Amino acid sequence: MRRISTGTLLAFAFILIFSGCQKKDEVIRLGVAGPMTGDQAKMGTDFKNGVILAIEEWNSKGGVLGKKIEVMIADDQHDPKQAVSVANKLVNDGAAGIIGHFNSSCSIPASDVYNRSGIPMITPASTNPKLTEKGYKGVFRVCGRDDQQGKAGAEFVLQRLKLKKIAVIHDKTTYGQGLADEFMKQVSGKLDIVYYGGIVQGDKDFKTVLTSIKEKKPELIYFGGIYPEAGLLVRQARELGISTPFMSGDGVIDPKFIEIAGPKPAEGTYLTFSPDPKKFPTAGKFIETYEKRFGELGPYSVYAYDAANIFLTAMKEAGTKDGKAVIDKLHSMEFSGALGKIKFGEKGDVTIAPYVVWITREGKFVEHWKPGG
Ligand code: ALA
Repeated sequence: MRRISTGTLLAFAFILIFSGCQKKDEVIRLGVAGPMTGDQAKMGTDFKNGVILAIEEWNSKGGVLGKKIEVMIADDQHDPKQAVSVANKLVNDGAAGIIGHFNSSCSIPASDVYNRSGIPMITPASTNPKLTEKGYKGVFRVCGRDDQQGKAGAEFVLQRLKLKKIAVIHDKTTYGQGLADEFMKQVSGKLDIVYYGGIVQGDKDFKTVLTSIKEKKPELIYFGGIYPEAGLLVRQARELGISTPFMSGDGVIDPKFIEIAGPKPAEGTYLTFSPDPKKFPTAGKFIETYEKRFGELGPYSVYAYDAANIFLTAMKEAGTKDGKAVIDKLHSMEFSGALGKIKFGEKGDVTIAPYVVWITREGKFVEHWKPGG
């Protein structure tokens, strides 16, 4: 068995909903993993809230397979090594399935652990194509993929904005660089890329890179990365007198981005993401309950909620918590969630993953454009 570090132990918590502390076999344990602390904690918290809500609803109706459901919360701190540690701990502590992780850089190495242990993993948010290209039968995602997201972003830039000259930055992570490269694949040869380069996740001062970009006068700065760095980039760009619009993806579309950048600097930022769940009739009840309980809906709260419901439905239908049987059900069933109908393809990707472009307007995100529009 792997050694579990003290950090991992601190990063791990059990929440015993309704049932009190139970022995392993008396409950069904569901792990939820993501960045629960640190600068991306908002995303982990959104996951946790969505999963807790789903579990409470199941428990109020008797649980699943005649047992109460218990959630185990694991903090990977968006660190790939920590993700592997908490994955091992979740498995050792008897998780029947995992909702997580958030970052592709965590989901991909953690999926090796879950695959070895034969338990299903459903990520609400990891979009890097490699995750489901590994051929692991028990790995699923309810979000789209960055080849789809990058394509939608490129179509917007080429066909709607009709730009000729752009700069591309990424945070050197699996997701950030991966998304920037998927976007690049689509625009290469069709416009002038005057700058392409990486920043370091966790850095606070991006003025050197922004100054180099300023001299090249791009019409748009595309960023592959997450909101803490995106917020600082946009704020510092405006401080340097760069008024060029920014564009990014699903890792940035959170109110924290606007808070860090400031509403004025963030104004007009374009973000690719899935359509607004507030427009889905199927999501109404969930959103109302969630917002009453936890406040404003996060971008991936509903994805975490649906992922937990999908997992528990598959287990109920399988009639056993055996990983193989649940994985088979996940592959064969069609689920009705807050997001509507969800079906997994052969690789574990969702069969429908529409991406649209959002824009920040007066401190809020609003849907702005959809491909073909
Ligand atoms: N979509 C982001 C990732 O895959 C959150 O890391």
